[in-house]
Amino acid sequence: MPVSHQSNKVVLTHPSGASAEVYLYGATLTSWKVANKERIFVSEKAILDGSKAIRGGIPLVFPVFGKGKAPHVTAALPQHGFARISQWKLLISSDDANTVTAEFGLDHTLISEENRKLWPFDFSLVYTVKLAAETIETKLRVHNVGDKSFDFNALLHTYFLIPDASRVKVVGLSGIDYVDKVLATTVRQEGDIILEGEVDSVYANVKSDVQIPYVAEEGGVQVHLKGLSDVVVWNPWVGKAAAMADFGDDEFHKMICVEAGQVAEFIALAAGGSWEGSQVLSLL
Ligand code: BG6
Repeated sequence: MPVSHQSNKVVLTHPSGASAEVYLYGATLTSWKVANKERIFVSEKAILDGSKAIRGGIPLVFPVFGKGKAPHVTAALPQHGFARISQWKLLISSDDANTVTAEFGLDHTLISEENRKLWPFDFSLVYTVKLAAETIETKLRVHNVGDKSFDFNALLHTYFLIPDASRVKVVGLSGIDYVDKVLATTVRQEGDIILEGEVDSVYANVKSDVQIPYVAEEGGVQVHLKGLSDVVVWNPWVGKAAAMADFGDDEFHKMICVEAGQVAEFIALAAGGSWEGSQVLSLL
């Protein structure tokens, strides 16, 4: 079966042997394997029972990135919004000669009463996961099905599993001005990103693919953005790792978040309007 629906997750299996796994909670993709090798990081301490956003995988950030700021309507929403902490539905699954696809849905009738009050807009999200032999595309579509315009951020908050933080770099962001959330400044990226400490940076208007090559060994991953212009790079390093209950103290060595989305500015979506953005992950 190319797509099997278990009680709390959906597993996609490609004839090539590639596979992916998506929890209905948050529509969080928690695994992408090619040639039996896992590419996605999920913390050993991640909580998978639907009581907290999954620490790892690809949590979906919507409709606000981080904490909203008053007086914006998103100010009272939980950090990174409600999409990652809501129970999604599997809408359809299909396969053709090259791909296996599963589509997940979330709308205003499915979110908690509390979040509905905080964000009183009628919306529909469709998240499509398309698995091919050596690539995976994750696409988010946002529909405004109500009669008033709303603002949103969207982000595919991808946690990559890496050999070791000291043996990867992030390539493709050189020359771009970014907001360094650790130092609270805006600076220009000069050259590749090397991980040597906490990183929490927001790059706007990214025009090229972003690569995470494994230095000193073969391989790596690439993120190709479609209809998305911002990239967040995050690694909590020692201090922030220790402060997170659902993240092992040493796990920061094994992960890096390279997150594709629209977060530098809100997108305003008129009544009846639609928006979509996606990323295609591939191997180097
Ligand atoms: C990143 C943010 O996208 O997500 C960071 O830029 C944040 O500031 C990180 O710490 C993790 O967020 P959370 O809510 O999952 O702990």
